[in-house]
Amino acid sequence: MRPGAAVAFHDLAPKLESFRDAVLDGLSRTPKRIPCRFLYDERGSDLFEAICDTPEYYPTRTEMTILRKHARDMARLIGPDATLIEYGSGAGQKVKLLLRALDRPFAYAGIEVSREILLRATDDLSLDWPKLQVVAICADFLTPISLPASLRRGAGRRVAFFPGSSIGNFTPAEATRFLQQCRTMVGPGGGMLIGVDLKKDEGRLDAAYNDKAGVTAAFTLNLLDRINRELGADFAVGRFAHHAKYQPEVGRVAIHIRSLADQMVTVAGRRFNFAEGEGIHTEDSWKYAVGEFQDLARDAGYRPIACWTDAGELFSVHYLAA
Ligand code: TRP
Repeated sequence: MRPGAAVAFHDLAPKLESFRDAVLDGLSRTPKRIPCRFLYDERGSDLFEAICDTPEYYPTRTEMTILRKHARDMARLIGPDATLIEYGSGAGQKVKLLLRALDRPFAYAGIEVSREILLRATDDLSLDWPKLQVVAICADFLTPISLPASLRRGAGRRVAFFPGSSIGNFTPAEATRFLQQCRTMVGPGGGMLIGVDLKKDEGRLDAAYNDKAGVTAAFTLNLLDRINRELGADFAVGRFAHHAKYQPEVGRVAIHIRSLADQMVTVAGRRFNFAEGEGIHTEDSWKYAVGEFQDLARDAGYRPIACWTDAGELFSVHYLAA
């Protein structure tokens, strides 16, 4: 896909570890692990969207409800002529709710590592908002980003938008570092609007990551299919299972692919042994009480200004001043 005519494209050429290197390295470690971004190939991305539609996975729809209900308050805090910078562009619906409420938004920039997803999302947005300056930045959002000059000319605030509780997929230390980086990027007077999944009872969380229809299991296990397909491996996918469990003492859902037997697997000509019950760690999803997240934001140099939650206290959206 090529950038749409109305979209300014900035390719910061993210240097990412290849799938092959990441898998071979991750399976050689104890405990075994594979970074979560490899879950999102084309099929994985489709399955993730299907997860968002399962009755158990409440975060996406709850965040949408909060945005819909409080978009005006959010827009008031952000102010006129703002520049919105979205991390992980692709969830177009959420930013549209916000743009609709904003007073004369000046520009939108999407930062996203997948070129395809980025170009589709920004192109779509510029068709809906022909007067808005739309910028696509292809970059790994864990590395500091300096904004193109055209984005620094707005009269209003620069505000980073990070929905979906993706902040929970960082460890708290990584999350603090990431928030600090965003603060530098938006500069003095800027802000951050961020979705954060709340701590809650174990049953609710376990259900959200273990839906009955098995969509989440298919999503996790797709990683093994992908390794088989792309790296010439021989995982017997039926001898592995998705495993997700909330750990209340640490406040995170730990997600693993578990071996159901003692077995050996060959990947790109290399052999890896699995003991029965052994896992490959694929992701953690940290949960924060409102006050805990505000403390983390303060550590990263922000002033928490507002927090909106739903009636069931499942999810939160915070506005932080840089
Ligand atoms: N960012 C999502 C979350 O933490 C990702 C996610 C949802 C996920 N369900 C999953 C990742 C299952 C791995 C497996 O909620």
